[in-house]
Amino acid sequence: MKKLIAGNWKMNGSWAETRNLTENILKGIEADPSLEDTCDLVIFPPFIHIGVAKEMLTEADSPLTYGAQDCSFNGNGAYTGDTSAYMLRDFGCEYVILGHSERRQYHGETNETVKSKAAVAHSEGLKAIICIGEQESERESGAEKDVVGSQLLESLPESATILNTVIAYEPVWAIGTGKTATPDDVKDMHEFIRKKLVERLEIAENMRILYGGSMKPDNAKKLLATPNVDGGLIGGASLDAEAFLAIARAA
Ligand code: PGA
Repeated sequence: MKKLIAGNWKMNGSWAETRNLTENILKGIEADPSLEDTCDLVIFPPFIHIGVAKEMLTEADSPLTYGAQDCSFNGNGAYTGDTSAYMLRDFGCEYVILGHSERRQYHGETNETVKSKAAVAHSEGLKAIICIGEQESERESGAEKDVVGSQLLESLPESATILNTVIAYEPVWAIGTGKTATPDDVKDMHEFIRKKLVERLEIAENMRILYGGSMKPDNAKKLLATPNVDGGLIGGASLDAEAFLAIARAA
């Protein structure tokens, strides 16, 4: 299975910076065509900049794809400020990130919200990257598996298959902090997630499970070589084309 290397740009960058970053990633991929054989690469610009990426990627006919950082749990209609899964698919998005811990924390998204968004995303033909992960206090009290296990099972809609769903395990305390879980902790948690998936779905061996949380060029190789780590969801380092590409090369 190819590794999935996903760049979550969050709420960063101007129009010009987005063009620049996209261009530099495209150049890097063009200079190293072997990347395409080992990984699938996808970027997640902020909503307002997805069009920039769409235009540039289409013109370059690049293997790099793009997606959105969230979608509505509703279809088109009177939902001010929302963006529907239908619109994203229509705009050429392949993936949508759902239930990121920042959405859960700042927008009160629950497992139920994530599940309904994922169901809508699937019905429109989008692949959902469903994020789960424990808080630091939950790990300290030894509750990390209970938390991650219930987030996983409660966020997965009936429509989830290995083709339309990716799980991203992101320990909340490792996001944007420079702290990463140890390779042993990652191995242990990813094995646990795989087991839970196998209990829930008929074929789950090939469902991708990404690790996210301060993945950088210098720790990517070890993390991506960990069993059951099928790629990375990269925040900070994905805003630097060279760092993002270095992580892809590590895969
Ligand atoms: P980070 O973010 O790589 O900056 O820790 C990861 C994420 O939030 O997806």
